[in-house]
Amino acid sequence: MSLWLKLAIVGLIAGLVAVWQLGDVDPARRWLASLSLLLYAVILLRYSQRTKPAHNSTPEQNPDGCDYLIAFATETGTARALALKTQKWLKKSGIRTSRAELNRLRDFPAPRRALLLVVSTTGSGDPPKTGNQWLDAGDLPDDFSRCHYAVLALGDRTYPNFCGFGLEVAAWLRAFGATPLFDPVLVSQEDPQSVNYWFRQLKSKGLP
Ligand SMILES: Cc1cc2nc3c(=O)[nH]c(=O)nc-3n(C[C@H](O)[C@H](O)[C@H](O)COP(=O)(O)O)c2cc1C
Repeated sequence: MSLWLKLAIVGLIAGLVAVWQLGDVDPARRWLASLSLLLYAVILLRYSQRTKPAHNSTPEQNPDGCDYLIAFATETGTARALALKTQKWLKKSGIRTSRAELNRLRDFPAPRRALLLVVSTTGSGDPPKTGNQWLDAGDLPDDFSRCHYAVLALGDRTYPNFCGFGLEVAAWLRAFGATPLFDPVLVSQEDPQSVNYWFRQLKSKGLP
């Protein structure tokens, strides 16, 4: 439960107590005030349920694995946002997904259907901060070598090493034994047409 929701509940209880402690108030108004507060509580509760994150982002929440695991590596947030967009797209069809920073990939069980990676490049073809340790602590569990995977690589064509890190991740997974669903989709400067192409490619493989 978020801090704001907790504060709102405390405020509501305080409001109800105050309404019933006030002397000299018409009982009808007391009931009206109480009902308004309760209605407000119901609206708050519904809102908090709707804004719950639509994903399981820890391996503990999904210990048996999921259908699609979406991993992202980002420096300034674009890859994270596109990973979330991909996840929401899948979730709309009721598909079980998890989302993870690339650095934490090895903590997750291999997905049953595919690993989807949204990976940007920084520096001179270098990994961004949420992807710069993804293989430091050893290889991925063997199960990942039996996975299907797809890579959405974000970059900028004006850099000499265009989408360098995304391509490196794709090549690594292939060498590890994983099977690509299709060639990496390369995106320059967040080009929306290339992003749409990513979704079209996923659709062509039967997703969502
Ligand atoms: C300092 C810096 C270095 C970058 N280096 C590269 C690069 O070597 N190759 C490339 O294709 N794109 C490069 N980019 C472009 C980013 O990969 C691109 O803007 C991407 O959309 C950023 O995604 P992110 O917000 O998820 O990190 C660089 C961007 C910055 C700001």
